[in-house]
Amino acid sequence: MRIGVIGLGAMGLGIAQVFASVGHAVFATDAQSGARASARDRLAQALAPRVAKGVLSVDDRAALLSRLTVVSRVEDLSPADLVIEAVVERLAVKQAVFGVLEPLLSPDAVLATNTSSLSVSSIAHGLSRPNRVLGLHFFNPAPVMKLVELIPHAGTDATAMGLVRGVTEGAGKTVVTAPDRPGFIVNRCARPYYGEGLALLEQGRSAAEIDAAMVAAGYRLGPFALIDLIGADINLAATEGLASAMADHPRYHIFAALRAQVAKGDLGRKTGRGFVMGEAPPPSDAAAIALRIEATLVNEAAWLLAEGGVSADDIDTAMRLGLNFPRGPFEVLAGYGREKVRETLAALEAEAPAYLKGRYAPAPMFA
Ligand code: NAI
Repeated sequence: MRIGVIGLGAMGLGIAQVFASVGHAVFATDAQSGARASARDRLAQALAPRVAKGVLSVDDRAALLSRLTVVSRVEDLSPADLVIEAVVERLAVKQAVFGVLEPLLSPDAVLATNTSSLSVSSIAHGLSRPNRVLGLHFFNPAPVMKLVELIPHAGTDATAMGLVRGVTEGAGKTVVTAPDRPGFIVNRCARPYYGEGLALLEQGRSAAEIDAAMVAAGYRLGPFALIDLIGADINLAATEGLASAMADHPRYHIFAALRAQVAKGDLGRKTGRGFVMGEAPPPSDAAAIALRIEATLVNEAAWLLAEGGVSADDIDTAMRLGLNFPRGPFEVLAGYGREKVRETLAALEAEAPAYLKGRYAPAPMFA
């Protein structure tokens, strides 16, 4: 299949690698001449560790690189059957890119967006063939992360979905169908992991002990180590985006501790100072901390499920692969049982200050 990629930043180049590595011809472009000129070298560099380890032969790397054609004009993407855009996260820019591309492509070609926070239907709006538009959300780094969220909007054709699912699975990815709702699956269902950790922090618990409780429960990284890894600024922006898209619902409350961290510039790994400055053993109530955080993870997933367009299995798969969680929220639910989750949410609601009570309102399956 001929695949086009627009935007050769971190994501676009990674996506180009994913498809070129399984034999597809990839045509790629970027608005910046520097990004175009450096793309091949950056890809070669990205592959270097695999060549050094002997996982990829020098010949295979050369073959992979030969499948990437960097073009300077958008018109040169016209033979593509599927074009994936990974340009800057701005609605007007993405709409303009698709507006220019659509008349150049065959009527059956599919336009996919790698947006992480914009609505797919708003990107498709105004095009002649919105039925050929969908979201294809890769995670960073695209060549490493197994998960891809496939996001139809209300008018996306089943044939476009099938074509993109097939080619993406063929590139070794696990594809889940996500609804065209804010945060899709992973970025939304992850919120309570951080939010409930921050609620505990504001109640006087330390970041290190909260993290230790989650590690003891089987999570590879606690919420604060994860925030430090990704960056408190990125976490704040993601939470703010979701909060505003969800009418400031208290489930997406922005905790003052997170804002303060960003205001201080203690963004985590990239600035050398973060939430977790040392290790702690799991506290004596580690199981209760894990139950609290997991009950809110389950509740968020249950709200998403109730809104429709997604299956419990896909939510579980997405949370395991997208966040490296040891189990998905519905597997967590099966472990605790409905009654335990219901009781935990009710106790949290009873204890919460008025402005946070709505955070613990149980999803329909617990009501
Ligand atoms: P980036 O800033 O590394 O790359 C964006 C590239 O797009 C730049 O090279 C820029 O020159 C180019 N560009 C901007 N406007 C353009 C236009 N009109 N035509 C052609 N090229 C244009 O950004 P990154 O991180 O690769 O993100 C790209 C997209 O992927 C965004 O929508 C982002 O939300 C999404 N995404 C990012 C993830 C991440 O962790 N970085 C994860 C999943 C999705």
